[in-house]
Amino acid sequence: MEWTREQRYRRVDEESAENIEALAMRVNACPWRQSFHIQPKTGLLNDPNGFSYYNGFYHLFYQWFPLGPVHGLKYWYHVKSKDLVNWEDAGIGIEPDHFYDSHGAYSGSAIEHDGKLFMMYTGNTRDENWTRHPYQCIAIMDQTDKITKLEQPVISDVPNGYTDHFRDPKVWKQGETFYTVIGAQRQNETGCAVIYSSLNLVDWKLEGELQTSLNDFGYMWECPDYFEQNDNGIFIFSPQGIEAKGDLYRNIYQSGYLIGRKLTLPERQFEHGDFHELDRGFDFYAPQTTLAPDGSRILVGWMGLPEIDYPTDENGWAHCLTVPRVLTVENGKLIQQPVKKLELLRKNEHQVAAVLENEVKSFNELRGTSYEMVCEISSFNSEEFGIELRANETKKTVISYNSTHKKLVLDRSNSGKEVGSEFGSTRACHLDTDKLFLHIFVDTSSVELFVNNGEEVFTSRIFPEVDCDQIRFFAKNGIATFDIQKWDY
Ligand code: FRU
Repeated sequence: MEWTREQRYRRVDEESAENIEALAMRVNACPWRQSFHIQPKTGLLNDPNGFSYYNGFYHLFYQWFPLGPVHGLKYWYHVKSKDLVNWEDAGIGIEPDHFYDSHGAYSGSAIEHDGKLFMMYTGNTRDENWTRHPYQCIAIMDQTDKITKLEQPVISDVPNGYTDHFRDPKVWKQGETFYTVIGAQRQNETGCAVIYSSLNLVDWKLEGELQTSLNDFGYMWECPDYFEQNDNGIFIFSPQGIEAKGDLYRNIYQSGYLIGRKLTLPERQFEHGDFHELDRGFDFYAPQTTLAPDGSRILVGWMGLPEIDYPTDENGWAHCLTVPRVLTVENGKLIQQPVKKLELLRKNEHQVAAVLENEVKSFNELRGTSYEMVCEISSFNSEEFGIELRANETKKTVISYNSTHKKLVLDRSNSGKEVGSEFGSTRACHLDTDKLFLHIFVDTSSVELFVNNGEEVFTSRIFPEVDCDQIRFFAKNGIATFDIQKWDY
């Protein structure tokens, strides 16, 4: 179905209760509803927003269009949790109900100040010629979770030299000063990020562009994020317009990071290394991080991408968020590990050890459509070995390691209903290892694979049939030893 502009910009309170109920019924009947991921009750979810720890809870919001699986009038939807695993529905967070966010409460971040949670976000507006005018706005949440907007935006003008693609403020505090970094497009249509400073989160001073060595790297940088860990400065962003290169940059848009020395402020000089993709899978975009009370840095991403149709669209909803990951820096690289608290979801434990030689094998106790599995594969001379999951007699999602080419591959060409196949149906990365440690989270319609303790991550949606619950292990042309642990969820 083609959505008209009028349908896309309809507010949820303009829709009848019957229609919303009918939509919710279609959504709930969808065979691909997730069991342990954050997903919208109806409509479309995209970027994580306002990820923060405040008043004893993690707060997480997401971009939400309630009325269908399209990018329409965006709200912030609110969920909260004590443990990053069990999330409580906290209802709509920010509604696009002011002049300054009339066409969407777009992405932004949150920070505690004076005992309250300040949320800085982009108010998206369109004029009568449908020209975009972005405003940077503030909404303040108190200890009862009541959210009140400031009447006026705190940054009303796009500075000279930039287009109206100016959005997604991420705030942090250094000493007594707040900084915000905003995703931007220069007039010459290259992407960049712009920094402002403030002492009170309301009066902002333009400092200028973040000075990186990537002066011509895509046409727009969305969802920037800056934080520090030990002596490192880490800048995460989602550049649009990067061409595929071998196994790299294969998705429609990318998300990645630069690591360097701490940013000098207010000069904004950033000396950094190469751009690295955060995720090697098919469906990952616009991540956001926050600092946990124990000092660890946690990241959540959107498990989806813009401009691609997903099979759940037919059932009136699209997308979910990734499981939260802990970030650390090792040898100039970000290491990403699932948060430990996910262990709370573990139910029955199964263990299997096996040496496979030129065979494909499954084990009665290992099957499922929603589980966590750890598989260590060692002592191999097999040319290619791995795991087939969410499999039945004809379908499978395959994780394989080719020890000749030293490549780890995720193949969803035969997973089930196709998605985004114009961007290919395998993703791969180079990996030189003599022991493979695969930590896998499988949900009804997704796989998140953490490789060798977080050196690489592959995040992907898959759309298999409900009976695809087999797990098979294989070793071709040689031997491989598998040590498997699995927990039902
Ligand atoms: C990224 C993005 C942001 C924007 C939001 C709108 O996916 O395009 O740049 O704020 O989504 O939903």
